[in-house]
Amino acid sequence: MKPVSICTGRSMDKKNTDESGDQKETMDLKDRVIPGDSISILKSMPSTSVDLIFADPPYNLQLEKELYRPNETRVNGVNESWDRFSSFNEYDEFSINWLRECRRILKKNASIWVIGSYHNIFRLGKVMQDLGFWILNDIVWIKHNPMPNFMGTRFNNAHETLIWASRDRDSRPAFNYQTMKTYNDDLQMRSDWYIPICQGRERIRVDGEKGHPTQKPEALLYRVLTASTKPGDTVLDPFAGTGTTLAVAARLGRHYIGIERNEAYLKIITERLKRVNPIPDNLIENPMDMKRKKIPFGSLIENGMVTPGEWLYSEDRKYMAQVLANGTLRFGDQNGSIHRISAAILNRKAWNGWNFWYVERDGKAVSIDYMRNLLSRQLEHD
Ligand SMILES: C[S@@+](CC[C@H](N)C(=O)[O-])C[C@H]1O[C@@H](n2cnc3c(N)ncnc32)[C@H](O)[C@@H]1O
Repeated sequence: MKPVSICTGRSMDKKNTDESGDQKETMDLKDRVIPGDSISILKSMPSTSVDLIFADPPYNLQLEKELYRPNETRVNGVNESWDRFSSFNEYDEFSINWLRECRRILKKNASIWVIGSYHNIFRLGKVMQDLGFWILNDIVWIKHNPMPNFMGTRFNNAHETLIWASRDRDSRPAFNYQTMKTYNDDLQMRSDWYIPICQGRERIRVDGEKGHPTQKPEALLYRVLTASTKPGDTVLDPFAGTGTTLAVAARLGRHYIGIERNEAYLKIITERLKRVNPIPDNLIENPMDMKRKKIPFGSLIENGMVTPGEWLYSEDRKYMAQVLANGTLRFGDQNGSIHRISAAILNRKAWNGWNFWYVERDGKAVSIDYMRNLLSRQLEHD
Protein backbone atom coordinates (compact mmCIF):
# COMPACT_ATOMS: atom_id res chain seq x y z
CA MET A 1 0.00 0.00 0.00
CA LYS A 2 1.40 3.36 -0.99
CA PRO A 3 1.82 5.84 1.85
CA VAL A 4 -0.77 8.61 1.89
CA SER A 5 0.68 11.76 0.54
CA ILE A 6 -1.07 14.92 1.39
CA CYS A 7 -0.23 17.55 -1.18
CA THR A 8 -1.01 21.23 -1.23
CA GLY A 9 -2.65 21.25 -4.61
CA ARG A 10 -0.03 23.63 -6.02
CA SER A 11 1.91 21.04 -8.03
CA MET A 12 -0.91 19.92 -10.26
CA ASP A 13 0.62 20.05 -13.73
CA LYS A 14 -1.64 19.80 -16.72
CA LYS A 15 -0.70 16.87 -18.98
CA ASN A 16 -1.16 15.89 -22.65
CA THR A 17 -4.52 14.94 -24.01
CA ASP A 18 -5.28 11.79 -26.03
CA GLU A 19 -7.41 11.44 -29.19
CA SER A 20 -10.71 11.59 -27.29
CA GLY A 21 -9.59 14.84 -25.71
CA ASP A 22 -9.19 13.14 -22.31
CA GLN A 23 -6.10 13.88 -20.23
CA LYS A 24 -3.72 10.94 -20.41
CA GLU A 25 -2.38 11.31 -16.91
CA THR A 26 -3.21 12.61 -13.51
CA MET A 27 -0.15 10.84 -12.09
CA ASP A 28 0.84 13.69 -9.80
CA LEU A 29 -2.55 13.57 -8.07
CA LYS A 30 -3.20 9.85 -8.01
CA ASP A 31 -3.55 8.33 -4.55
CA ARG A 32 -3.35 11.72 -2.87
CA VAL A 33 -5.49 13.51 -0.36
CA ILE A 34 -5.50 17.24 -0.93
CA PRO A 35 -6.28 19.47 2.06
CA GLY A 36 -8.27 22.62 1.42
CA ASP A 37 -11.41 24.03 -0.09
CA SER A 38 -12.98 21.79 -2.74
CA ILE A 39 -13.95 24.50 -5.17
CA SER A 40 -10.55 26.15 -5.37
CA ILE A 41 -8.76 22.78 -5.57
CA LEU A 42 -11.15 21.47 -8.22
CA LYS A 43 -10.49 24.64 -10.22
CA SER A 44 -6.77 23.85 -10.33
CA MET A 45 -7.24 20.27 -11.54
CA PRO A 46 -6.78 19.31 -15.21
CA SER A 47 -9.87 18.93 -17.41
CA THR A 48 -11.10 15.50 -18.59
CA SER A 49 -8.82 13.59 -16.26
CA VAL A 50 -10.86 11.36 -13.91
CA ASP A 51 -13.00 8.28 -14.53
CA LEU A 52 -15.51 8.66 -11.70
CA ILE A 53 -16.54 11.16 -9.05
CA PHE A 54 -18.31 10.20 -5.85
CA ALA A 55 -19.54 13.26 -3.96
CA ASP A 56 -21.18 13.37 -0.54
CA PRO A 57 -21.53 17.14 -0.17
CA PRO A 58 -22.86 19.08 2.84
CA TYR A 59 -26.57 18.36 3.33
CA ASN A 60 -27.60 21.86 4.37
CA LEU A 61 -29.72 20.31 7.13
CA GLN A 62 -30.60 23.73 8.54
CA LEU A 63 -30.67 22.42 12.11
CA GLU A 64 -31.61 25.29 14.35
CA LYS A 65 -31.40 23.65 17.74
CA GLU A 66 -29.92 20.62 19.44
CA LEU A 67 -31.95 17.42 19.19
CA TYR A 68 -32.54 15.25 22.28
CA ARG A 69 -33.81 11.67 22.65
CA PRO A 70 -36.78 10.96 24.97
CA ASN A 71 -34.24 9.91 27.67
CA GLU A 72 -32.70 13.41 27.33
CA THR A 73 -29.41 12.29 25.80
CA ARG A 74 -28.23 14.56 22.99
CA VAL A 75 -28.48 13.23 19.41
CA ASN A 76 -25.09 13.46 17.72
CA GLY A 77 -26.50 14.76 14.41
CA VAL A 78 -24.95 16.97 11.76
CA ASN A 79 -24.49 20.34 13.37
CA GLU A 80 -21.04 21.18 12.04
CA SER A 81 -20.03 24.50 10.52
CA TRP A 82 -19.34 22.78 7.18
CA ASP A 83 -23.05 22.07 6.90
CA ARG A 84 -24.25 25.65 7.49
CA PHE A 85 -25.41 27.88 4.66
CA SER A 86 -27.30 31.13 5.17
CA SER A 87 -29.96 30.41 2.54
CA PHE A 88 -31.01 28.06 -0.24
CA ASN A 89 -29.47 30.56 -2.67
CA GLU A 90 -26.09 30.31 -1.00
CA TYR A 91 -26.30 26.51 -1.06
CA ASP A 92 -27.31 26.50 -4.73
CA GLU A 93 -24.43 28.83 -5.61
CA PHE A 94 -22.00 26.51 -3.80
CA SER A 95 -23.49 23.45 -5.55
CA ILE A 96 -23.28 25.06 -9.00
CA ASN A 97 -19.62 25.95 -8.43
CA TRP A 98 -18.38 22.52 -7.36
CA LEU A 99 -20.57 20.57 -9.79
CA ARG A 100 -19.48 22.73 -12.73
CA GLU A 101 -15.82 22.01 -11.93
CA CYS A 102 -16.54 18.30 -11.49
CA ARG A 103 -18.11 18.16 -14.93
CA ARG A 104 -15.04 19.81 -16.46
CA ILE A 105 -12.71 17.34 -14.72
CA LEU A 106 -14.64 14.21 -15.76
CA LYS A 107 -13.49 12.32 -18.85
CA LYS A 108 -15.92 12.22 -21.76
CA ASN A 109 -17.25 8.75 -20.90
CA ALA A 110 -17.09 9.19 -17.15
CA SER A 111 -19.86 9.41 -14.57
CA ILE A 112 -20.62 10.99 -11.22
CA TRP A 113 -22.50 9.83 -8.12
CA VAL A 114 -23.99 12.43 -5.79
CA ILE A 115 -25.56 11.33 -2.52
CA GLY A 116 -27.97 13.36 -0.42
CA SER A 117 -31.14 13.40 1.63
CA TYR A 118 -34.49 15.14 1.10
CA HIS A 119 -32.85 18.34 2.38
CA ASN A 120 -30.58 18.76 -0.64
CA ILE A 121 -30.98 16.04 -3.27
CA PHE A 122 -33.74 17.77 -5.24
CA ARG A 123 -31.74 21.00 -5.46
CA LEU A 124 -28.62 19.04 -6.49
CA GLY A 125 -30.56 17.15 -9.17
CA LYS A 126 -31.81 20.38 -10.72
CA VAL A 127 -28.35 21.92 -10.71
CA MET A 128 -26.90 18.78 -12.31
CA GLN A 129 -29.45 18.75 -15.12
CA ASP A 130 -28.99 22.49 -15.69
CA LEU A 131 -25.23 22.02 -16.00
CA GLY A 132 -25.62 19.30 -18.66
CA PHE A 133 -25.13 16.10 -16.65
CA TRP A 134 -27.35 13.27 -17.89
CA ILE A 135 -29.12 11.39 -15.09
CA LEU A 136 -28.82 7.60 -15.50
CA ASN A 137 -30.48 6.38 -12.28
CA ASP A 138 -31.48 7.48 -8.85
CA ILE A 139 -30.63 4.81 -6.31
CA VAL A 140 -32.46 4.64 -3.01
CA TRP A 141 -30.14 3.54 -0.23
CA ILE A 142 -32.52 2.00 2.29
CA LYS A 143 -31.04 1.85 5.77
CA HIS A 144 -31.74 -1.32 7.76
CA ASN A 145 -31.19 0.61 10.94
CA PRO A 146 -32.09 4.30 10.49
CA MET A 147 -32.04 6.82 13.33
CA PRO A 148 -35.63 7.06 14.74
CA ASN A 149 -37.70 10.22 14.42
CA PHE A 150 -37.32 11.17 18.09
CA MET A 151 -40.01 13.84 18.07
CA GLY A 152 -42.61 11.48 16.58
CA THR A 153 -43.76 14.26 14.25
CA ARG A 154 -42.90 12.75 10.87
CA PHE A 155 -42.21 9.45 9.13
CA ASN A 156 -38.96 7.81 10.10
CA ASN A 157 -36.50 8.96 7.44
CA ALA A 158 -34.98 5.62 6.44
CA HIS A 159 -33.20 6.31 3.17
CA GLU A 160 -30.84 8.54 1.22
CA THR A 161 -30.80 9.04 -2.53
CA LEU A 162 -27.87 8.68 -4.89
CA ILE A 163 -28.01 10.33 -8.29
CA TRP A 164 -25.90 8.56 -10.90
CA ALA A 165 -25.25 10.70 -13.97
CA SER A 166 -22.96 10.73 -16.98
CA ARG A 167 -21.03 13.82 -17.99
CA ASP A 168 -23.03 14.27 -21.21
CA ARG A 169 -26.15 12.82 -22.73
CA ASP A 170 -24.06 10.89 -25.29
CA SER A 171 -21.36 9.68 -22.84
CA ARG A 172 -20.86 5.91 -22.55
CA PRO A 173 -19.89 5.49 -18.90
CA ALA A 174 -18.59 2.22 -17.49
CA PHE A 175 -21.36 0.01 -16.14
CA ASN A 176 -20.48 -3.55 -15.20
CA TYR A 177 -23.93 -4.90 -15.90
CA GLN A 178 -23.07 -8.62 -15.88
CA THR A 179 -20.96 -8.27 -12.75
CA MET A 180 -23.83 -6.54 -10.94
CA LYS A 181 -26.28 -9.20 -12.07
CA THR A 182 -24.05 -12.00 -10.83
CA TYR A 183 -23.43 -10.07 -7.59
CA ASN A 184 -27.22 -10.10 -7.17
CA ASP A 185 -27.62 -13.90 -7.59
CA ASP A 186 -28.22 -13.65 -11.36
CA LEU A 187 -31.05 -11.12 -11.09
CA GLN A 188 -30.75 -7.62 -12.59
CA MET A 189 -29.48 -5.29 -9.86
CA ARG A 190 -32.32 -2.96 -8.87
CA SER A 191 -32.26 0.65 -7.80
CA ASP A 192 -33.26 -0.02 -4.16
CA TRP A 193 -30.22 -0.97 -2.14
CA TYR A 194 -30.61 -2.32 1.41
CA ILE A 195 -27.42 -1.53 3.29
CA PRO A 196 -27.01 -0.82 7.04
CA ILE A 197 -25.64 2.54 8.16
CA CYS A 198 -22.01 2.62 9.25
CA GLN A 199 -21.75 1.16 12.74
CA GLY A 200 -19.79 -1.15 15.04
CA ARG A 201 -16.09 -1.58 14.37
CA GLU A 202 -16.33 0.19 11.02
CA ARG A 203 -17.44 3.44 12.70
CA ILE A 204 -14.36 5.54 13.35
CA ARG A 205 -14.21 6.92 16.90
CA VAL A 206 -11.95 9.56 18.32
CA ASP A 207 -11.75 9.71 22.14
CA GLY A 208 -14.88 7.56 22.29
CA GLU A 209 -16.96 9.93 20.13
CA LYS A 210 -17.94 9.49 16.47
CA GLY A 211 -15.01 10.80 14.42
CA HIS A 212 -17.42 12.18 11.81
CA PRO A 213 -21.20 12.61 11.91
CA THR A 214 -21.90 11.25 8.40
CA GLN A 215 -19.38 8.47 7.75
CA LYS A 216 -20.80 6.32 4.94
CA PRO A 217 -20.71 2.51 5.05
CA GLU A 218 -17.95 0.89 2.99
CA ALA A 219 -20.55 -1.52 1.57
CA LEU A 220 -22.25 1.37 -0.25
CA LEU A 221 -19.02 2.50 -1.90
CA TYR A 222 -18.04 -1.10 -2.64
CA ARG A 223 -21.19 -1.47 -4.71
CA VAL A 224 -20.87 1.92 -6.41
CA LEU A 225 -17.25 1.35 -7.44
CA THR A 226 -17.78 -2.28 -8.46
CA ALA A 227 -20.69 -1.20 -10.67
CA SER A 228 -19.22 1.83 -12.36
CA THR A 229 -15.43 1.61 -12.50
CA LYS A 230 -12.74 -0.69 -13.81
CA PRO A 231 -9.57 -1.68 -11.95
CA GLY A 232 -6.95 1.04 -12.43
CA ASP A 233 -9.54 3.85 -12.87
CA THR A 234 -9.15 7.12 -10.99
CA VAL A 235 -11.92 8.04 -8.56
CA LEU A 236 -12.25 11.57 -7.16
CA ASP A 237 -14.08 12.43 -3.92
CA PRO A 238 -14.29 16.22 -3.42
CA PHE A 239 -15.81 15.92 0.10
CA ALA A 240 -13.76 13.05 1.49
CA GLY A 241 -14.84 13.21 5.16
CA THR A 242 -13.35 10.09 6.79
CA GLY A 243 -12.10 8.85 3.39
CA THR A 244 -14.62 6.04 2.83
CA THR A 245 -14.47 6.41 -0.96
CA LEU A 246 -10.66 6.54 -0.92
CA ALA A 247 -10.30 3.46 1.30
CA VAL A 248 -12.69 1.37 -0.81
CA ALA A 249 -11.04 2.56 -4.05
CA ALA A 250 -7.61 1.54 -2.71
CA ARG A 251 -8.98 -1.82 -1.61
CA LEU A 252 -10.48 -2.49 -5.05
CA GLY A 253 -7.35 -1.56 -7.04
CA ARG A 254 -8.67 1.84 -8.18
CA HIS A 255 -6.70 5.08 -7.79
CA TYR A 256 -8.19 7.82 -5.65
CA ILE A 257 -7.97 11.58 -5.28
CA GLY A 258 -9.55 13.03 -2.16
CA ILE A 259 -10.24 16.61 -1.09
CA GLU A 260 -11.11 17.59 2.48
CA ARG A 261 -10.60 20.81 4.37
CA ASN A 262 -11.13 19.77 7.99
CA GLU A 263 -7.85 19.03 9.82
CA ALA A 264 -9.38 16.44 12.16
CA TYR A 265 -10.94 14.51 9.28
CA LEU A 266 -7.67 14.66 7.33
CA LYS A 267 -5.96 12.94 10.24
CA ILE A 268 -8.62 10.24 10.26
CA ILE A 269 -8.14 9.69 6.50
CA THR A 270 -4.37 9.37 6.85
CA GLU A 271 -4.70 6.72 9.55
CA ARG A 272 -7.49 4.93 7.74
CA LEU A 273 -5.61 4.63 4.45
CA LYS A 274 -2.63 3.09 6.24
CA ARG A 275 -4.88 0.22 7.33
CA VAL A 276 -6.25 -0.59 3.85
CA ASN A 277 -5.52 -4.09 2.68
CA PRO A 278 -5.80 -4.07 -1.13
CA ILE A 279 -7.41 -7.10 -2.77
CA PRO A 280 -4.80 -8.78 -5.02
CA ASP A 281 -4.97 -7.78 -8.70
CA ASN A 282 -5.86 -11.28 -9.90
CA LEU A 283 -8.97 -11.25 -7.69
CA ILE A 284 -10.36 -7.88 -8.76
CA GLU A 285 -10.35 -8.34 -12.51
CA ASN A 286 -13.72 -8.12 -14.07
CA PRO A 287 -13.89 -10.85 -16.74
CA MET A 288 -17.66 -10.71 -17.23
CA ASP A 289 -17.71 -7.11 -18.32
CA MET A 290 -14.36 -6.91 -20.10
CA LYS A 291 -14.60 -6.08 -23.76
CA ARG A 292 -13.23 -9.20 -25.44
CA LYS A 293 -11.23 -9.41 -28.65
CA LYS A 294 -13.19 -11.08 -31.42
CA ILE A 295 -12.02 -14.70 -31.64
CA PRO A 296 -12.79 -16.62 -34.86
CA PHE A 297 -13.45 -20.39 -34.71
CA GLY A 298 -10.15 -21.01 -36.56
CA SER A 299 -8.28 -19.58 -33.54
CA LEU A 300 -9.57 -22.43 -31.36
CA ILE A 301 -7.89 -24.85 -33.80
CA GLU A 302 -4.69 -22.77 -34.07
CA ASN A 303 -4.42 -22.71 -30.30
CA GLY A 304 -5.05 -26.44 -29.88
CA MET A 305 -8.38 -26.06 -28.08
CA VAL A 306 -10.25 -27.93 -30.81
CA THR A 307 -8.50 -30.56 -32.94
CA PRO A 308 -9.04 -31.22 -36.66
CA GLY A 309 -11.00 -34.45 -36.99
CA GLU A 310 -12.92 -34.12 -33.69
CA TRP A 311 -16.69 -33.93 -33.57
CA LEU A 312 -18.90 -31.05 -32.56
CA TYR A 313 -22.38 -31.83 -31.20
CA SER A 314 -25.68 -30.01 -30.90
CA GLU A 315 -26.75 -29.56 -27.26
CA ASP A 316 -29.29 -32.42 -27.52
CA ARG A 317 -26.67 -34.55 -29.33
CA LYS A 318 -29.07 -35.05 -32.25
CA TYR A 319 -26.57 -33.59 -34.74
CA MET A 320 -22.82 -33.93 -35.10
CA ALA A 321 -20.31 -32.44 -37.51
CA GLN A 322 -16.61 -33.05 -38.00
CA VAL A 323 -14.00 -30.27 -37.67
CA LEU A 324 -11.71 -29.93 -40.70
CA ALA A 325 -8.19 -28.53 -40.58
CA ASN A 326 -9.29 -25.33 -42.35
CA GLY A 327 -11.77 -24.39 -39.58
CA THR A 328 -14.90 -25.50 -41.45
CA LEU A 329 -17.31 -28.30 -40.50
CA ARG A 330 -18.28 -31.34 -42.52
CA PHE A 331 -21.91 -32.34 -42.03
CA GLY A 332 -22.97 -35.19 -44.37
CA ASP A 333 -22.21 -33.87 -47.83
CA GLN A 334 -22.23 -30.22 -46.70
CA ASN A 335 -19.19 -28.14 -45.78
CA GLY A 336 -19.25 -24.68 -44.20
CA SER A 337 -18.63 -22.49 -41.15
CA ILE A 338 -19.99 -23.28 -37.67
CA HIS A 339 -22.70 -20.68 -38.41
CA ARG A 340 -23.67 -21.89 -41.88
CA ILE A 341 -23.94 -25.57 -40.87
CA SER A 342 -26.02 -24.80 -37.75
CA ALA A 343 -28.32 -22.56 -39.85
CA ALA A 344 -28.76 -25.39 -42.41
CA ILE A 345 -29.60 -27.89 -39.65
CA LEU A 346 -32.17 -25.51 -38.14
CA ASN A 347 -33.50 -24.59 -41.57
CA ARG A 348 -32.74 -20.89 -40.93
CA LYS A 349 -31.15 -18.26 -43.12
CA ALA A 350 -28.52 -17.51 -40.46
CA TRP A 351 -27.60 -18.81 -37.00
CA ASN A 352 -24.95 -18.09 -34.39
CA GLY A 353 -22.91 -21.29 -34.38
CA TRP A 354 -21.19 -20.29 -31.12
CA ASN A 355 -24.47 -20.99 -29.33
CA PHE A 356 -25.18 -24.26 -31.17
CA TRP A 357 -22.06 -26.42 -31.00
CA TYR A 358 -20.47 -28.33 -28.13
CA VAL A 359 -17.32 -30.42 -27.77
CA GLU A 360 -16.87 -33.28 -25.38
CA ARG A 361 -14.32 -32.83 -22.60
CA ASP A 362 -13.91 -35.40 -19.80
CA GLY A 363 -17.25 -36.95 -20.73
CA LYS A 364 -19.09 -33.61 -20.49
CA ALA A 365 -20.52 -31.33 -23.16
CA VAL A 366 -18.67 -28.00 -23.25
CA SER A 367 -19.96 -25.11 -25.36
CA ILE A 368 -17.54 -23.79 -27.97
CA ASP A 369 -18.56 -20.30 -26.80
CA TYR A 370 -17.13 -21.19 -23.38
CA MET A 371 -13.92 -22.41 -25.10
CA ARG A 372 -13.77 -19.09 -26.95
CA ASN A 373 -14.06 -17.14 -23.67
CA LEU A 374 -11.28 -19.22 -22.15
CA LEU A 375 -9.02 -18.50 -25.10
CA SER A 376 -9.90 -14.81 -25.03
CA ARG A 377 -8.89 -14.61 -21.36
CA GLN A 378 -5.66 -16.47 -22.05
CA LEU A 379 -4.78 -14.12 -24.90
CA GLU A 380 -5.48 -11.07 -22.73
CA HIS A 381 -3.01 -12.31 -20.13
CA ASP A 382 -0.25 -13.13 -22.65
C1 LIG B 1 -21.12 14.58 4.18
S1 LIG B 1 -19.46 14.69 4.62
C2 LIG B 1 -18.65 13.38 3.72
C3 LIG B 1 -18.55 12.09 4.48
C4 LIG B 1 -17.80 10.99 3.74
N1 LIG B 1 -18.52 10.55 2.60
C5 LIG B 1 -17.48 9.82 4.65
O1 LIG B 1 -17.90 8.69 4.37
O2 LIG B 1 -16.81 10.02 5.64
C6 LIG B 1 -18.95 16.11 3.81
C7 LIG B 1 -17.52 16.52 4.05
O3 LIG B 1 -17.20 17.60 3.22
C8 LIG B 1 -16.29 18.45 3.89
N2 LIG B 1 -16.47 19.78 3.26
C9 LIG B 1 -17.56 20.56 3.29
N3 LIG B 1 -17.37 21.67 2.57
C10 LIG B 1 -16.13 21.58 2.04
C11 LIG B 1 -15.36 22.40 1.18
N4 LIG B 1 -15.83 23.55 0.71
N5 LIG B 1 -14.12 21.99 0.85
C12 LIG B 1 -13.62 20.81 1.31
N6 LIG B 1 -14.30 19.99 2.13
C13 LIG B 1 -15.55 20.36 2.49
C14 LIG B 1 -16.73 18.40 5.33
O4 LIG B 1 -15.63 18.72 6.18
C15 LIG B 1 -17.20 16.96 5.47
O5 LIG B 1 -16.19 16.13 5.99
